[in-house]
Amino acid sequence: MKKSLGAKPIVYPTPVFLVGSYDENGVANMMNAAWGGLCSSNPPSVAVSIRQERHSYDNIIQKQAFTINIPSTNQAKVADYFGLVSGKKCDKVKLSGVAVERAEFVDAPMLKDCPLVLECRLIATHDLGVHTQFVGEIIDVKIEEECLDSAGQPDIRLVDPLLFAPGNRAYFAIGDFVGQAFAVGKDIAAHNGFE
Ligand SMILES: Cc1cc2nc3c(=O)[nH]c(=O)nc-3n(C[C@H](O)[C@H](O)[C@H](O)COP(=O)(O)O)c2cc1C
Repeated sequence: MKKSLGAKPIVYPTPVFLVGSYDENGVANMMNAAWGGLCSSNPPSVAVSIRQERHSYDNIIQKQAFTINIPSTNQAKVADYFGLVSGKKCDKVKLSGVAVERAEFVDAPMLKDCPLVLECRLIATHDLGVHTQFVGEIIDVKIEEECLDSAGQPDIRLVDPLLFAPGNRAYFAIGDFVGQAFAVGKDIAAHNGFE
């Protein structure tokens, strides 16, 4: 039997996005954001929801660009730090000691040690209450070569992305392979006359 928890923002899993942006002085900033995900295939787009009081909010509006850096589980500490401290108060990237570099196609920084990075151009904003949803067109995807499988595709097991669980505010790793998408359901489809 199910129990009602009321209206809460919970889905599983949520990603850990480290959103990279530059301020007006060119200082690199990173913030942890779990309220996000893919939102269109064409143009390839990703959405991330950011509160107006965040330093990142002003940066992205000003530069019209951001990066989505996807950390591995071994980067949980620094990812959490980027969610605890605001770039409004200090140069938090410099203080963290992690290395950043300029993205190739957009005016935003990316983390050198993150295995997967999306370079995004801001194409829309939607005010949704306390959060504003920033929609970024994905201009390029950068991935460490060792995270590609033999077919040249990103391998989630090699990226080993850090995940967030909103209910208990905890970080997790991905679990086991379950089955091939657009394939494991074919038996049921065929049984009901669908090819
Ligand atoms: C796990 C985690 C997830 C978070 N998700 C979001 C989010 O989706 N949107 C948001 O506005 N803040 C989120 N935060 C809070 C910001 O990361 C935090 O306020 C940060 O200091 C903002 O940095 P900035 O002011 O330098 O932009 C999250 C924090 C953590 C630890």
